[in-house]
Amino acid sequence: MVPSFLSLRLSCLGLWASGLILVLGFLKLIRLLLRRQRLAKAMGNFPGPPTHWLFGHALEIQQTGSLDKVVSWAHQFPYAHPLWFGQFIGFLNIYEPDYAKAVYSRGDPKAPDVYDFFLQWIGRGLLVLEGPKWFQHRKLLTPGFHYDVLKPYVALFAESTRVMLDKWEEKADDLGKMTYLTMCIKESFRLYPPVPQVYRQLSKPVTFVDGRSLPAGSLISMHIYALHRNSAVWPDPEVFDPLRFSTENASKRHPFAFMPFSAGPRNCIGQQFAMSEMKVVTAMCLLHFEFSLDPSRLPIKMLQLVLRSKNGIHLHLKPLGPGSGK
Ligand SMILES: *[C@@H]1O[C@H](CO)[C@@H](O)[C@H](O)[C@H]1NC(C)=O
Repeated sequence: MVPSFLSLRLSCLGLWASGLILVLGFLKLIRLLLRRQRLAKAMGNFPGPPTHWLFGHALEIQQTGSLDKVVSWAHQFPYAHPLWFGQFIGFLNIYEPDYAKAVYSRGDPKAPDVYDFFLQWIGRGLLVLEGPKWFQHRKLLTPGFHYDVLKPYVALFAESTRVMLDKWEEKADDLGKMTYLTMCIKESFRLYPPVPQVYRQLSKPVTFVDGRSLPAGSLISMHIYALHRNSAVWPDPEVFDPLRFSTENASKRHPFAFMPFSAGPRNCIGQQFAMSEMKVVTAMCLLHFEFSLDPSRLPIKMLQLVLRSKNGIHLHLKPLGPGSGK
């Protein structure tokens, strides 16, 4: 059992403690109020955006788009305006070169209201120190950033960048995956094969599927352009339809139905190169422009070993605007 005199003393102590806390809290509040009054009075000459009775401007500042909010305020108040985080912390928010010079050409200490929050995180280092200690640290560290000291880092920067670029290059293997673009390119190659007609001389006789044959020495003209418009293979052959080249559709087709790079052992050795180039160039062009044919000057197809346009290719280019596709 607790002796009664002790419990009396304990309750007295509790009373004293709560009284003390109350007084201290009251004093703190008075200090805050005085400070608020001082800050508000100091900024009395600076007009600013309206403040919330409790939060000041904190709500606007925390929202996304707060940077643009401040810019809109800066248009309204060309040099500076008060900025309140709640009731007790008010800054003069400045954004004008002469205002900046007036403050930053001097060595005023960092605002403890803000940077004290960071102490746990960044410690009492160069960023938040002040006075002689700051000066000493600054003096110690400055030679570390001398131009000559930085020189060896150039190789390091270069190496890091090279590693980054290599990784990007691996990623840029989105080259093989540009599925729809690939289908569009193939469909274009179907309708406009780069080499529409190729020739062979038979070294041995050949027998065709329907029993007809040709002797050795015969000449063959392989008309790729007509093959690609063969309606037995390509329904509605004149219609541009990239879906013809979906994996599913393409797998059902005769392997020799589509031969923009010729076919067999003597096919075009550079076809992978050409496809990669086409994809990259086309994708980059399409990022920047919308292309359409000039209807008054449509290309006139002409066969000169390769497929060409007799009258050039007249296009309308519509810029997609800066930053488009980024
Ligand atoms: C196959 O091609 C047809 C005709 O172009 C198209 O309608 C269909 O969607 C294609 N199928 C697939 C799986 O792409």
